[in-house]
Amino acid sequence: MKSSKKDIVKSNPSMGVDITKAPEPKLGNKPILGDRYTSKEFMKLEWERLWTKVWQVAGLEQQLEKPGDFFTFDFGPENILCVKGEDSNIRCFYNVCQHRGNQLVQIQEGNLESFSCAYHAWKFGLDGKLNWVPDEEDFVQGSPCGKRNLIEIKSEVWQGFIWFNLDPQCDSLKNYLEPVMTHLENYPISEMKRTHWVTVEEGNWNWKCVQDNFNESYHTPYVHPALKYIADEKYYACQFDLYESMHCRMLMPGFIPSKSVYDEEDKVLESLGPHMEYWDMKPEDYKGKLLEIRGDIQKQKRNLAKNKGYDFAKFNDGQLTDHYHYTIFPNISFSVKPDGMQWLRGTPHPTDPTKCFFDYWYLTWFPENIKEYYSPMLGKMTDISVKAKNVRGKVGEIDVGSGIEEDVAIWQSQQKGLSSRGYIGDCMPAQENRIRFFHENIDRYLFGDSGGDA
Ligand code: FES
Ligand SMILES: [Fe+2]
Repeated sequence: MKSSKKDIVKSNPSMGVDITKAPEPKLGNKPILGDRYTSKEFMKLEWERLWTKVWQVAGLEQQLEKPGDFFTFDFGPENILCVKGEDSNIRCFYNVCQHRGNQLVQIQEGNLESFSCAYHAWKFGLDGKLNWVPDEEDFVQGSPCGKRNLIEIKSEVWQGFIWFNLDPQCDSLKNYLEPVMTHLENYPISEMKRTHWVTVEEGNWNWKCVQDNFNESYHTPYVHPALKYIADEKYYACQFDLYESMHCRMLMPGFIPSKSVYDEEDKVLESLGPHMEYWDMKPEDYKGKLLEIRGDIQKQKRNLAKNKGYDFAKFNDGQLTDHYHYTIFPNISFSVKPDGMQWLRGTPHPTDPTKCFFDYWYLTWFPENIKEYYSPMLGKMTDISVKAKNVRGKVGEIDVGSGIEEDVAIWQSQQKGLSSRGYIGDCMPAQENRIRFFHENIDRYLFGDSGGDA
């Protein structure tokens, strides 16, 4: 059985996402040292020069359906208030009362006609405007109403995600996200529903452990031993793209086993079986023909899409089966298929570099005729209109979700090692170049250059 990177990734490239390989950037070889994950000074620089300059996701548009709907989002030392106004526009504000700085909204989500501060009752409208203060006549400087409004943060909604940037001078989201924005335009992401929403509060690791991890698949055979039966995970089967915009992509062929398990045919067919059966294929027909599954399932998806309520017309064959995995600089990663998106993110802790918050979402695109689905989070059949609740807690208290729990366990033990005097910096193979690229890009924000060579 033979499979080559060229055959696998380059299927009908004229349609769907551009799968041209990005030119390889020139990378240095400076070691990635442990203090990047432990030092308070480094954390402070990250806040001042990185987090306050980059586009971030506060949440999803589907969290704000009607005027007055709002939610708050912890971001490092800040708390961001996102609101749908009377005019149905979504706005983001610093969640800070402009009287004497009390945090204005103390709850995670809700619906209100206006926001009243708990301290002296200043009242702000959904558009952030200060509408009422007690003893308005007592302000010798003149009434603050209409003047000391909430401080608005630049925000944009794209594909159902609410993005914000703390830098008022920032570049547009479109420029920031290229080429990923163009790649994703045909995915029905804004129609997908969040069916899994877990937040690990105060995970015991630095936020960069998360992004490092999703910037490589070197760990997958050992941390996720089941993957090799359903994907050709080895680096020589995958394509890695490192874009000038600092984002990255990995194309990993799916519905095809890794070479290491070609002789475990039964296990491969058992692992792929449920998907094959969903697309009216019989696993037993593929004995001795494991490498034909991927191409055949692509054909079946095209043939049966309409019957099953999907529309795959705008996708290339690879998009129907493969793992299109993106890492958005600095802290978001996702794998996207036409029928769903796995979305992962680490955000900085307000004060401690050895801790962070970690979010894991799954966004499902339900085919037209589907009314209910089996929710692993709720453990039962669930109406698709029921919104997944945000499950929050520490590691061990909550079920993070299969496939990702294994990564979480590693970050905890990795942080301990990174804090040790016995860690003298990385020693990485070329397939982990996206990690080096990531750290060099952090250095570009922090110090103005990539850090270069050792
Ligand atoms: S601090 Fe908010 S009203 Fe005084
Ligand atoms: Fe992993």
